[in-house]
Amino acid sequence: MTKTTKMRRGGPPGSGPASGRVEKRERPRQAPVPAKDARPKAVAERNAPLKQERAAPAAPERPLMTRTGDTPAERIPVILENQSSAGFRLIDSGAGEKLEQYGDYRVVRPEAQALWQRSLPARHWEHVDAVFTGDTDEDGMGRWRFPKGALGETWPMQLLDVDFHGRFTSFRHVGVFPEQQVHWDWMRQEIEKAKRPVKVLNLFGYTGVASLIAAAAGAEVTHVDASKKAIGWGRENQALARLDKAPIRWICDDAMKFIAREERRGNRYDIILTDPPKFGRGPNGEVWHLFDHLPLMLDIGRELLSDKALGFVLTAYSIRASFYSIHELMRETMRGAGGVVESGELIIRESGLDGSEKGRALSTSLFSRWVPA
Ligand SMILES: C[S@@+](CC[C@H](N)C(=O)[O-])C[C@H]1O[C@@H](n2cnc3c(N)ncnc32)[C@H](O)[C@@H]1O
Repeated sequence: MTKTTKMRRGGPPGSGPASGRVEKRERPRQAPVPAKDARPKAVAERNAPLKQERAAPAAPERPLMTRTGDTPAERIPVILENQSSAGFRLIDSGAGEKLEQYGDYRVVRPEAQALWQRSLPARHWEHVDAVFTGDTDEDGMGRWRFPKGALGETWPMQLLDVDFHGRFTSFRHVGVFPEQQVHWDWMRQEIEKAKRPVKVLNLFGYTGVASLIAAAAGAEVTHVDASKKAIGWGRENQALARLDKAPIRWICDDAMKFIAREERRGNRYDIILTDPPKFGRGPNGEVWHLFDHLPLMLDIGRELLSDKALGFVLTAYSIRASFYSIHELMRETMRGAGGVVESGELIIRESGLDGSEKGRALSTSLFSRWVPA
């Protein structure tokens, strides 16, 4: 197929996610993985809950499949913009920081991409509930400053009608990545539209907000994360969301190891969300390195898609790459499956003090999403 930005729907007749996977070929040799200490600090921070220092066993490997058939149609570039809501909005940004509203709290955090100047006067940036200090001598809550008086570690939040905890973590994160809402909203609609039991696999699921939104929409969810702490927060959030009875499997495991096992067991999912960090470690020190392992992760992911799959969503952040890198990888992975691969960036737009302005856009991540049509 020639490269075109025009959309062409559908693959060869009768093709589905299960077709176009014939033989296996050798994977290129894996590049050496940098020592943990060599990880850039910002990246290590985004991968927050991980603290294991054990020796790294080799990640489970299998050769990549040779995919045949046409690549899916493409829709590019797609810019998915987070809508501001009572639960979250970006108020202002500039001078390397951002001013955000998370539920009742107004928060200032570093934002390297905010190269421009702030729009709002200093008083709005000073009269806030929490500021991430970035003080590396402190651990945990100590890295936050609370100008109006001490706050607890957590606070109530709600996004897309699901309750959970916002949380001041030692890595400047607040327990949720709100830019992901656009994918979660899409997923919720797909689950509701399907009017049948839908199975969702949420890889690198962190505190579980996506898993809860999927469960609230009626899906059966498998949530995988390497961090015991994050899984614990996810379970707490499940109770808070009054979804205790919802079918969510919380799995503390290395994402690659888990999907390799699921492939061997023949388990299938209708929607797969994967939001891998650049570097990460499984619970037993297994090394995740996006540039080495992403092709195999997508390759196995495709095998895990059911015959009536509704989507395969990849987000990537903190990497030096264009959305084309993950777009073309997704299209190659989904050869012969028909459907469309749409890729671009997830952005959050400033919406001012009252949430109604249309300010500047902050790019948060790249994404690529395969959908059946
Ligand atoms: C930034 S978070 C993902 C955010 C999540 N998608 C959300 O929007 O809430 C990255 C997560 O990957 C997890 N992680 C890192 N390496 C992993 C690995 N090898 N296997 C499974 N999870 C891993 C971390 O514990 C962390 O919770």
